Amino acid sequence: MDARIRETLAGLDIRAEIERLRKERNAVILAHYYQTPELQDLADFVGDSLELSRKAAETDADVIAFCGVRFMAEVAKILSPQKTVILPDMDAGCSLEDSCPPDEFGAFRAAHPDHISLTYINCSAAVKAHSDIIVTSSSAEKIINALPKDQKILFAPDKHLGAWLNKKTGRDMLLWDGTCIVHEAFSETELLKLKALHPDAPVAAHPECPAYILDHAHMIGSTSAILKFALESPASTIIVATEPHIIHQMEKAAPNKIFIGAPGADGNCSCNMCPYMALNTLEKLYLSLRDLQPRIEVPEPLRLRALLPLNRMLAIASGAATDLTPAQTFPAVTGD
Ligand code: 13P
Ligand code: SF4
Repeated sequence: MDARIRETLAGLDIRAEIERLRKERNAVILAHYYQTPELQDLADFVGDSLELSRKAAETDADVIAFCGVRFMAEVAKILSPQKTVILPDMDAGCSLEDSCPPDEFGAFRAAHPDHISLTYINCSAAVKAHSDIIVTSSSAEKIINALPKDQKILFAPDKHLGAWLNKKTGRDMLLWDGTCIVHEAFSETELLKLKALHPDAPVAAHPECPAYILDHAHMIGSTSAILKFALESPASTIIVATEPHIIHQMEKAAPNKIFIGAPGADGNCSCNMCPYMALNTLEKLYLSLRDLQPRIEVPEPLRLRALLPLNRMLAIASGAATDLTPAQTFPAVTGD
């Protein structure tokens, strides 16, 4: 933080100021599980990607302050164009988004005209606009199973999530070669050492982890599914193979259990903290509520094209649409 901003903030009770601005602006504060405990604790709602997307669509606030990464705030804006959506730090991106440039993805789609495109929500609005259905880690399996068995599918951008879904559903989706730098940083060797130290502790892992980590997991699922498992498991110690800030919610809800973050190659889990999520701070949240900046803007034609595949996901995930025929599913989302 530069000296001028530090001076502006000196002596301010930042939490009290955030409270004041939350009311004044009629703002709702959303936080992903990977945010720091201080941001999680003051958020109106903490959740996974699908839950936050739904929340963003439901809220009647005038302002959505999104403590998460840019693609998540972009989804909020796509679903609520009339609201002001702010992200405390506009540089809070995602390695999966970076690994899938829209023009390259458009060319990939064009090269496979007989495939439909299922795209993980961790991507830009432009990539969503090239897609047929958006999925999150908690909705993907249900959506794949709702598609005709012989339907050819492209899956982007996370190859590890795609490979895990292929295994779960028996499909042979063609996979884009993208990865999450955070989930790729877990070390199998270190995980095996940790398991040897805690032989009764189950491992709960996010499907963005490579197969060599997932192969050792007792449970694989989205952040909210991992949290649920950690709280419901009879085990007193649980090894958590996802971004370690989620452990804050576990410790709050089950203070008598022990939750251990799966290790990276250096034997501790610091390399598994998401560097993009870490850009958001209490101070930047305050400044963004004060200035209503940085603000997410999505041009209307792009928003409308990205909305279609997002709405398909929300309809299938909520049970409103279950049996999808290609005709219903893929009318006219084309990339250019
Ligand atoms: P969830 O949808 O499970 O919250 O995952 C989001 C994410 O960015 C994982 O790295
Ligand atoms: Fe992206 Fe990985 Fe960070 Fe999630 S943890 S926001 S997938 S870089």
